[in-house]
Amino acid sequence: MQRNPDIPYVVKIEKIIDETPTVRTLLFSDETLSKVLPGQFAMVWIPGINELPMSVMISAEKGKAAFTVRKHGYASTELYSMKVGDQIGVRGPYGNSFTLKQGRLLLVGGGTGLVPLVRLLTFLKRNDDVALIIGAKTKDEVFFEGLANKLLEQNKHRVVVVTDDGTYGQKGLVTDVMEKFLHETTFDAVYTCGPEKMMHKVVQLAEAKKVYAEASIERMMKCGIGMCGSCCFGEVLACKDGTVFNSQFLLTNKEFGYTHRNKAGMLEDY
Ligand SMILES: Cc1cc2nc3c(=O)[nH]c(=O)nc-3n(C[C@H](O)[C@H](O)[C@H](O)COP(=O)(O)OP(=O)(O)OC[C@H]3O[C@@H](n4cnc5c(N)ncnc54)[C@H](O)[C@@H]3O)c2cc1C
Ligand code: FES
Repeated sequence: MQRNPDIPYVVKIEKIIDETPTVRTLLFSDETLSKVLPGQFAMVWIPGINELPMSVMISAEKGKAAFTVRKHGYASTELYSMKVGDQIGVRGPYGNSFTLKQGRLLLVGGGTGLVPLVRLLTFLKRNDDVALIIGAKTKDEVFFEGLANKLLEQNKHRVVVVTDDGTYGQKGLVTDVMEKFLHETTFDAVYTCGPEKMMHKVVQLAEAKKVYAEASIERMMKCGIGMCGSCCFGEVLACKDGTVFNSQFLLTNKEFGYTHRNKAGMLEDY
């Protein structure tokens, strides 16, 4: 059933997947969210708690969608702690999406920033040559490596995990591995989502090699539909004009990588 995206729609959690000790994927039936474009998000109402923006995760089953949530503050911990059969409200999809380029593609993600990148993998063409760099603090926090390899099994691909402490995969930062890849291969596009400092460096590295790049950015979101202004990102609104922006725009936006607004609308440094 296609529904009005702006009217909250109640769904029941049908399945829960533990991805790491702090990250879970919650699956539910919703035809509309099952079809969103890579980079789009939904507003998720946790009854009696709050409403949070969440990227829409893929599901192997037709007509089903999912959120992959990291327990962080009060609201995300409540969402993470929900059980099968519990109900949440969803609005959306909202926002724009990654531009689909073809050829040699480099995806760089960290944490739950991997969610829109995994959705992007499902939109790629068979002959795309894909490199995905997954960043995590430590071995226990690595997720989606197996899923990404499975989604890319028909493509020429490499999935590389990088951990800060070297307990799994390569030790260091995703941007160290990215620099190596950019030296070895001429990419047609770079896509990134994750911590903003990381994305800033990714976009700078791509720009230095004149490779087209896009990043999906996060800002404080309340309405999700361009009315409240809480998600302003320089002169634009992340919820309506983004969340995906290209490097040409990002590198002229003075907030990118440096400041964001808190719940009171005040600018804070990253
Ligand atoms: C477009 C978008 C997609 C997102 N996708 C995911 C996802 O797939 N998985 C996931 O775990 N998280 C995702 N987030 C982050 C998520 O919305 C929350 O920010 C995060 O879960 C912390 O919320 P909290 O209330 O538990 O934390 P709190 O302790 O209340 O806040 C901690 C910090 O979280 C951020 N935050 C809190 N409320 C909001 C809000 N309404 N909008 C934006 N940021 C907020 C702020 O930076 C805040 O300082 C996404 C955010 C955006 C903007
Ligand atoms: S969240 Fe209200 S304008 Fe973007």
